[in-house]
Amino acid sequence: MGLVDGVRQRIETGALKADPGQLRVVEALGSLSEALKPAGGNGFLARLAGRKNGAPRGLYIHGPVGRGKTMLMDLFFEAAPAAPKKRIHFHGFMQEVHARLHAARRTSSDAIAPVAAAIANEAKLLCLDEMQVTDIADAMIVGRLFEAMLAAGTVIVTTSNLPPSELYRDGLNRQLFLPFVRLIERRLDVIALDGMTDYRLGRIKAHETFLTPLTAANAARLQDLWERLTDGKKGEPAILDVLGRKLVVPEAAHGCARFSFAELIEAPLGPPDYLAIARNYSTLFVTGIPAIKANQRNEAKRFVLLIDTLYDAGTRLAATSAKEPEAIHGGGPHKFEFARTASRLREMQSASWWGKKIVET
Ligand SMILES: Nc1ncnc2c1ncn2[C@@H]1O[C@H](COP(=O)(O)OP(=O)(O)OP(=O)(O)O)[C@@H](O)[C@H]1O
Ligand SMILES: [Mg+2]
Repeated sequence: MGLVDGVRQRIETGALKADPGQLRVVEALGSLSEALKPAGGNGFLARLAGRKNGAPRGLYIHGPVGRGKTMLMDLFFEAAPAAPKKRIHFHGFMQEVHARLHAARRTSSDAIAPVAAAIANEAKLLCLDEMQVTDIADAMIVGRLFEAMLAAGTVIVTTSNLPPSELYRDGLNRQLFLPFVRLIERRLDVIALDGMTDYRLGRIKAHETFLTPLTAANAARLQDLWERLTDGKKGEPAILDVLGRKLVVPEAAHGCARFSFAELIEAPLGPPDYLAIARNYSTLFVTGIPAIKANQRNEAKRFVLLIDTLYDAGTRLAATSAKEPEAIHGGGPHKFEFARTASRLREMQSASWWGKKIVET
């Protein structure tokens, strides 16, 4: 069964919800699947369609978290009539590439060409999930690597949270990365999957996202929320570049970042750090918000600043806390400043806040 029919059948049985935003991507993947069939792959028609090496154009699917990019790419991959084919997380792929480059450098001065040729041999179809370029070591090689793989006839399909032009956005030596952006835009069909529905969000209840008090049961509930929002993924540490400094995000996955109160508020972070977090993640998990004592002026200030920043950015917050919002601040002359924070924390537990369509970058 073709991809389009497969998706239609899943919608009929209720396994998937009909989603107009996904339809275009299903159609694009469906046509690519057709084009990969050996009979349609060569000759006059292929040349007419502007193909090089008889290979059809690949796809670059981008959009905010939870829209179904990976799900659709995987359905496509399973049925795609290409052999050999390979589906791998972009991170893992680049690790593999660096290891092979390292080995190839022993025998060749130009390691990229032989490594790209070897990969192209192992995969006529290469599906890469979650393309993201933050590392200068990756940024400096992807251009030539992808150019060589495409030239060898490998069809590349990839998912990403960012359009090609936003990749490696604030990276060092970005001008050396731009040929890669142009290559992707020229050689792959770039398609947005930016429907209104974040399917992971449907699995949680907004009023259960601010959990009090600090008990093992609530810690387990927060973990459960994390798993629902990340499809059970264990996060990985991430590094955000903040004005040339490195901010370590202890755990991140699928647009969610997790910090403890100590890491986020007791550590001497400032406005640019909180802004970077709010800009890079759609949901922030904070564990162990304590009762803040009257003399903990810095903690209180930073917490107010964090909540204001999240609020302005439309970021979602999931947390475990010793106290309800109004009782977090222990009193004293500055307590009045906390009233707005408490009220914002309440609003951020509403269904409309969680369902809000925010700009996810
Ligand atoms: N049309 C749909 N009906 C029901 N569930 C869906 C639909 N589309 C996607 N899902 C489910 O929603 C979840 C999120 O989808 P998926 O992992 O593909 O999102 P994504 O766009 O790749 O997100 P991310 O950018 O975070 O990787 C998955 O569990 C998926 O099976
Ligand atoms: Mg995905």
